[in-house]
Amino acid sequence: MPTRHRLCSVNDVPLGQGRECVVGDRIVAVFNVDGRFYALDGICPHAGGPLAKGELHGCVVTCPWHGWQFEVSSGQHQLNPRIRQTAFPLVIENGDVFVDLP
Ligand code: FES
Repeated sequence: MPTRHRLCSVNDVPLGQGRECVVGDRIVAVFNVDGRFYALDGICPHAGGPLAKGELHGCVVTCPWHGWQFEVSSGQHQLNPRIRQTAFPLVIENGDVFVDLP
């Protein structure tokens, strides 16, 4: 049963950027794409890089460590169709960002 967690305020994630949020023992990367918010597992599946600290161009984030790229709404790797980073459903309520985690 998923549990809802508050990650941050929408004002904490500037347009075109990501923010790293810690929820228990997880790191969740929240991205603001033109005012739409998305959340991915924040740990890159390649070698553990911090996805929230990567460059965001449109809907694609580039891991700052070795450049793997993911579509932030789906988690789909941009070159390898077999790699999909976990994407979490987000809810915005009263200016706060919440995520439902399993
Ligand atoms: S750790 Fe992300 S591309 Fe290597």
